[in-house]
Amino acid sequence: MADSSFKAINWYPGHMAKTMRLIDSSIKNIDVVIEILDARIPFSSKNPMLAKIAESKPRLLVLNKADLADKSVTSSWVAVYKRGGYDVIEISAKDKKAADSVVEAAKSCFAKNMSAFSQKTAERAKPRAMVVGIPNVGKSTLINSISNSSKAKVEDRPGVTRGPQWISLKEIELLDMPGVLWKKLENQDGALKLAFTGAIKDDILDKTDLASWLLEYIRKVYPQRLCERFKIDCDISDIPRFELLELVARNRGMLLRKGECDMERAAACVLDEVRGNKLGLISYEEPSDYGL
Ligand code: G4P
Repeated sequence: MADSSFKAINWYPGHMAKTMRLIDSSIKNIDVVIEILDARIPFSSKNPMLAKIAESKPRLLVLNKADLADKSVTSSWVAVYKRGGYDVIEISAKDKKAADSVVEAAKSCFAKNMSAFSQKTAERAKPRAMVVGIPNVGKSTLINSISNSSKAKVEDRPGVTRGPQWISLKEIELLDMPGVLWKKLENQDGALKLAFTGAIKDDILDKTDLASWLLEYIRKVYPQRLCERFKIDCDISDIPRFELLELVARNRGMLLRKGECDMERAAACVLDEVRGNKLGLISYEEPSDYGL
């Protein structure tokens, strides 16, 4: 989707490098890794660095924000990841039942892999699970819901730097890691999707660029919704992305003096309305995009 004209996104602040190091050093004490993914971007929100760091650990993938994603696309992703050997569930962390589903799935992931654990681990009274995910994926919402629903004990352990927290439940312990992205995004396409879904903050981005890419993506996958929402009645199949944004500006009467389009306002409007589900449930990637 993106080409070199997209301004490179610098998505890797120093504290995230620190979190990756922390994940690396804590993994030896962990039995199960729970990775929270954004159901709208189950590929681009999956941390590629965990493949190596957590390669020997059972992994539970939780596709959160399923209430915002295209349901049939989410089902395809669940099937793909299950075939890849992961345990997978889809949830909406805002739903009260989500907390129990995640805890149950983590316990079952541990139990299923019992034979692969050392005797000491297998006999542990409570399995230990690490919870990781990109920023804004809904990890706090989920962790708060787990903590409240299970009257969990939340504690800071000595020797663990500020940020990660152990949450002690009746049958499992969770290590909640701060949200993290990774340094080497192979392509800008992934960075754009992380930006669409709010994992990368808008204030470091060129919003007109971002909104124009978003329009281009929706034009390809959900053209009818785009035309309906922004009352576009011409053939949009070949319109360049910035001209699409101009169309939105004109149709919404977002004009500056001398009739020029107010691209900043149009961009804010597109980002707001797409993110606010005004164009319906949207998934930004399908398994077939990655040959899966
Ligand atoms: P984080 O800790 O991973 O950074 O994410 P956090 O829980 O803070 O959630 C980020 C935003 O995503 C919040 O919205 C939260 O309400 C929303 N969210 C989390 N899980 C879900 C979900 O399953 N479905 C939907 N639709 N939204 C979800 P916000 O607007 O930033 O805050 P708020 O106004 O909702 O409190």
